[in-house]
Amino acid sequence: MRKTDCLLIAALALSVPLCARAADEAGKVIRIATDATDLVLTVGDNGRLYQSYLGPKLLDEADLGKLPWIRRGSGTPVPNQGWEVYSTSGNEDYFEPALGITHADGNPSTYLYYAGSRQEPVDGGTMTTVNLRDDKYPLDVTLYYVAYPKENVIKTWTDISHREKKPVRLSQYASAMLYFDEPEYYLTEFAGDWAREAQMTGQPLRFGKKVVDTKLGSRAAWFVSPLFEVGLDGPAREDTGRVLMGTLGWTGNFRFTFEVDNMGYLRVIPGINPYASVYELKSGDTFTTPEFIFTLSDRGTGQGSRDLHDWARRYSVKDGGADRLTLLNNWENTYFRFDQPLLASLMKDARSLGVDMFLLDDGWFGNKHPRNDDRAGLGDWEPNRVKLPGGIKALTDAARDAGVKFGLWIEPEMVSPRSELFEKHPDWAIRQPNRDTYYSRNQLVLDMSNPEVQDYVFGVIDGILTENPGVAYFKWDCNSPITNIYSPYLKDRQGNMYVDHVRGVYNVMERVSAKYPRVPMMLCSSGGARCDYEALKHFTEFWCSDNTDPLERVYIQWGFSHFFPAKAMASHVTSWNKSASIKFRTDVASMCRLGFDIGLQELDERELEFCRQAVANWKRLQPAIMDGTQYRLVSPYESNHAVVEYVDSDRRKGVVFAYNLAPRFRDPVRRVKLRGLDPAAGYRVAEINLMPGAKPSLAEHGATCSGDYLMKVGLDLLKADPATSTVVELTAL
Ligand code: GLA
Repeated sequence: MRKTDCLLIAALALSVPLCARAADEAGKVIRIATDATDLVLTVGDNGRLYQSYLGPKLLDEADLGKLPWIRRGSGTPVPNQGWEVYSTSGNEDYFEPALGITHADGNPSTYLYYAGSRQEPVDGGTMTTVNLRDDKYPLDVTLYYVAYPKENVIKTWTDISHREKKPVRLSQYASAMLYFDEPEYYLTEFAGDWAREAQMTGQPLRFGKKVVDTKLGSRAAWFVSPLFEVGLDGPAREDTGRVLMGTLGWTGNFRFTFEVDNMGYLRVIPGINPYASVYELKSGDTFTTPEFIFTLSDRGTGQGSRDLHDWARRYSVKDGGADRLTLLNNWENTYFRFDQPLLASLMKDARSLGVDMFLLDDGWFGNKHPRNDDRAGLGDWEPNRVKLPGGIKALTDAARDAGVKFGLWIEPEMVSPRSELFEKHPDWAIRQPNRDTYYSRNQLVLDMSNPEVQDYVFGVIDGILTENPGVAYFKWDCNSPITNIYSPYLKDRQGNMYVDHVRGVYNVMERVSAKYPRVPMMLCSSGGARCDYEALKHFTEFWCSDNTDPLERVYIQWGFSHFFPAKAMASHVTSWNKSASIKFRTDVASMCRLGFDIGLQELDERELEFCRQAVANWKRLQPAIMDGTQYRLVSPYESNHAVVEYVDSDRRKGVVFAYNLAPRFRDPVRRVKLRGLDPAAGYRVAEINLMPGAKPSLAEHGATCSGDYLMKVGLDLLKADPATSTVVELTAL
């Protein structure tokens, strides 16, 4: 135990007032460090805790003690004002707080004093725990920071608990708070809509607040993903410049507040969106915020993404180190119209394509109210006896006979008003007791704050897997936001609904993960409306978008790739844009976890042969595409092309995907310089994913080029032909 800790405990015993004890700690420094970044907290003379530094790693430890905790400035009216680490409502700070509490006696102010800290090793890094306490109320706030040195990622969250006589009301409960002092700030947000996910747009941040939030409850990221970038020396760039990249691990309403104050300082406040959610916290209970994950790059978003990818695969995506399954899905091929023989023949198609699995989508369940369209059946997870007389067992048997695995679509948190579940348990649905019900996609959201409902939903998945151990994969969908905002279970605590609902969803996901750790799962929400690192602890990948038009998909994948490794992103070849060649569609899907959602009867023999070859290529190149280092070389936002390169960990294998989107007449096309190769190695250059009989277009095809040449001179990868693509495999000799 350190001397300061002993002093603190001794002081506690003597019951010296908390603020005085904390002031004794003045000047204490807490360093949260990765190999490239320092976040430093300092106890002020007043015993409160301030951010004294966040930026590139400081070289000399002795400098930490000199860092200022007071931010003086011409406009600052209060002399002791600094960047309080977790600023609270009712204090002397005039800008947005992280925490807002109304105490049991009605007092809305909170002052937090330093009460101790410790550091301990955890998987991949060091966890710093900081205890803060109000001096007038029995309220504790604990800040957690886990720093991952190698990946330059920090994740942080907060616990709030109290021992007041009655519940307190939380009106704000951010995960963290970070401050910056730069001449300008430039935000990139990832907004869009259904089939238009993660579109990147930028804007400068000026005085006042910019809020990026969602209040959809479930299917929460329909209009905006929980991701942001702040360029700290101008708009964020790919390979140069300083940038903060942040994301919240929360599968519900989130809010990022960016506030520039009178001094030009920026505070970033990420957390759950407290919209309609004044949370009643009982005495003795702990409110744990979601994790906010961030990296601070001084080599642009490219480096930041690579760090996040490494971190995610190692610590935050289910089975981050394992291979992914290629698959054939039936959704866009059959929609709800299928039966057992048809599915059995699709399984054979999957086999002939060379993919690992057949995935049965929506429409396989419901008997009294068969799921033959999207107006009935959700909640009744019994195989439909007309379509599937042999049940799931017959399907897993057929898959085994065909030589592929079998995966199943579920949407377990939902209920159709036309279902036996709703007939039995109308009170299990989130629904207004005294108003007309309105629907999104003709369905309602189950009240996941209710433990009975959690048990039921877990039971659905548990039941399927217990009865059918042959089910090897789930696609877990979520197609409705919360409508008719009222939890029958929470009754007079409706302020807790949005939060407790998500916690109920996690309760089920955690139980499924614990009992079935080896079942990979795809997270889906009408496309990419669920894409966060908390859910991904339980899912191997997420479905980026229902939009599989390759021209659009390039942008969607480009946006998500800023935060997620290709391994966590599912992409399928479909018929969304029939005018695009099967090669272009497949080349775009091959950048992520590859799948197909197309009727093979649509393809002629040559196209089919191409697809088989592309699947085999993808499987061979999986170590580079799924586990390698990604370089975004040419941006579709800055040109009419896109180029993405992957290099495996020992730089022996590289894959380059080059896309010509909608080039204009005589658009200049430049050679593309590659990255991340061994300059001294010779690489055999091979154009792959060629249509049978097609000639390679790349001059260097078949040649051996040094890594040095490929990185300094580059390859002539781009063309002016719209909707075409070139894929190149590099093999070190
Ligand atoms: C959502 C998904 C689709 C498909 C349908 C089924 O829209 O995004 O991929 O599974 O549901 O109803």
